Amino acid sequence: MKDPVKACADRASESAESKRPRHIAIIMDGNGRWAQARDLPRIEGHRRGVETVRMVSETATELNIDAITLYCLSSENWKRPKAELEFLMHLLEQYLIEERRTIMDQGLRLKVIGRRDRLPENVIKEMDKTLAMSESNPGTQLVLAIDYGGRDEITKVARELAREVAAGSLREEEISEERITSRLYTAGLPEVDLMIRTGGDMRVSNFLLWQLSYSELWITDTCWPEFTRENFLTAIDDFALRQRRFGGLNVNE
Ligand code: IPE
Ligand code: IPE
Ligand code: MG
Repeated sequence: MKDPVKACADRASESAESKRPRHIAIIMDGNGRWAQARDLPRIEGHRRGVETVRMVSETATELNIDAITLYCLSSENWKRPKAELEFLMHLLEQYLIEERRTIMDQGLRLKVIGRRDRLPENVIKEMDKTLAMSESNPGTQLVLAIDYGGRDEITKVARELAREVAAGSLREEEISEERITSRLYTAGLPEVDLMIRTGGDMRVSNFLLWQLSYSELWITDTCWPEFTRENFLTAIDDFALRQRRFGGLNVNE
């Protein structure tokens, strides 16, 4: 049987450039529910979720996707119990250490978006080490959204611009969509073509609010720990069938 990744890559290269997602963003949700349904502690769902992260970054590399952005921790997730947060930080630190070899082998370029100031020092240390090591890798950009919030990001940009206008280094008329885009954490990345959410909730939960304006959404009830390579490839295949109009009309209409 033909390898499904190969088949998907073939279809992707056969189809027009516009049919291939260049940037995929994922809300990796449903870890807790997956565990609870199996009488396991919620943290077991997070642990298993790391394996799905590995599968997704490997598949994105094989398919030559430019960037994948993974929602690891939202700015609202700090409301969770201390023990769960401590475990998530531990998992993150472990991931940054253990995945270093794979990140380098696969040529992935790590990028982290979100606030840094609320993260523990040991996580920052491992993060900076992996960021520096992978800085000039040529492959897929692996973007981790950690302590990230879309509203927080836009507020930060608004403050920066207001400061510059007040200081006289920027004129109000110079504030454009392009300028705002270029100040976001995601500056330099391609537009988010496809946004996947696992766990079945039909919401964006403060993820990439500006960037998702014209993204195609693909939501599945499957929880993150059981999200398979086939599921991922199906989302990419479905994307190729979507008609994107960006507010205009179909080309053949
Ligand atoms: C997503 O899984 C991971 C994080 C938010 C860190 P959840 O922990 O939200 O799992 P559910 O949604 O409660 O099942
Ligand atoms: C979104 O999931 C955040 C991450 C996946 C990191 P949540 O579980 O926090 O979202 P809500 O609370 O259900 O909206
Ligand atoms: Mg959740």
